[in-house]
Amino acid sequence: MRAVLIAVSIMALLSVQAEAASPYAGQNKVAGVCSQCHGMRLPAEGSIFPPLAGRDPVYLKNALKQYRDKTRVSELMNNIAGSLSDNDINDIVSYYSSVKP
Ligand code: HEC
Repeated sequence: MRAVLIAVSIMALLSVQAEAASPYAGQNKVAGVCSQCHGMRLPAEGSIFPPLAGRDPVYLKNALKQYRDKTRVSELMNNIAGSLSDNDINDIVSYYSSVKP
């Protein structure tokens, strides 16, 4: 009985984690990939890469989904967004939209 209760509460915890967008998980994903061009906060001065920090979360989410399904075309971003899950996108957007530029 006790083992069942523990198993159920662990499962509940895991499902909450999987659903809620996490800026901390997002920060790790940004550090691993996106920051190379977009920076953790801002891209390098004078670079061609658009800034993402502090941007509207709905805009960022739509842009990434459009890159992923190639309705917005950019060779670089189509490749990068192509491997992102909905979860990745939610985490990354919750990070970038929450940091001040
Ligand atoms: C190799 C460089 C590079 C990397 C790495 C990169 N991007 Fe980009 N990103 C670009 C370029 C170039 C553009 C502009 C493309 C265009 O013209 O649409 C762009 C555009 C964007 C835009 C659209 C911004 C706007 O103002 O419309 C978003 C959102 C974005 N990237 C998110 C990300 C995320 C999230 C990651 C990490 C998963 C990432 N990018 C990784 C180069 C990169």
